[in-house]
Amino acid sequence: MEFIEAVRNRRTVRTFTGEPVPEEVIMKMLEAGLLAPTNDHMRNWEFVLLHTAEEKETGLQAVKAWTLEHGGRRHEVPDAAAQVMYDHALPRQYTMLYDADWVILPFFKCSDQIFREGILNRLNPFASIWCVIENILLAAADAGLGCSLRIPVGDEWQKTAALVKAPEGWILPCYIGVGVPDGQLQETQHMRSAAEKAHRGTWQ
Ligand SMILES: Cc1cc2nc3c(=O)[nH]c(=O)nc-3n(C[C@H](O)[C@H](O)[C@H](O)COP(=O)(O)O)c2cc1C
Repeated sequence: MEFIEAVRNRRTVRTFTGEPVPEEVIMKMLEAGLLAPTNDHMRNWEFVLLHTAEEKETGLQAVKAWTLEHGGRRHEVPDAAAQVMYDHALPRQYTMLYDADWVILPFFKCSDQIFREGILNRLNPFASIWCVIENILLAAADAGLGCSLRIPVGDEWQKTAALVKAPEGWILPCYIGVGVPDGQLQETQHMRSAAEKAHRGTWQ
């Protein structure tokens, strides 16, 4: 697939056919992730993979608890397209991961200094792991697969890190579900053109 096609084809998917995805494909996605730029040259990233029902039941306990408590509540937002997304997404926060053939838990190593306010470059390890995540999402699109993406809410990431026995000092920024998309996409999106967004020399 052409690079730009993979970029265009990448969409968030929250329902899957249940068809299996070979482990080699997941490993190729991780290889793509590991080619991402890194703030400190260390590539301090590790991945926990959930595949069997037992692994998912253990690793996704905190997501299940959150979804049972909050997934049925409507989260009101001012934008109509975003509202469609929230109405579709919130009840599916658990199933979009559990029903994915694989769940990738990407971890990055970081001291808790990252949580200090006001110092932008303290966020570099967090920025780097998001470069990894985007490479993974694009590699999935390139393989004809779809990914769901959840950000842990509140202390959910610590709970999940403990459930999968991550060592101290490693942070979980998101969960990535990977599977064969069933074609139900959340279509309503705001698309913007480069001509609309680019500013030459100065903003105005
Ligand atoms: C930083 C970030 C956080 C997101 N968090 C969630 C989430 O917690 N749950 C979810 O269902 N989708 C989440 N998404 C997916 C977005 O809803 C999705 O990317 C957006 O609706 C645009 O759709 P697209 O990915 O198909 O282009 C997140 C995406 C990003 C980039």
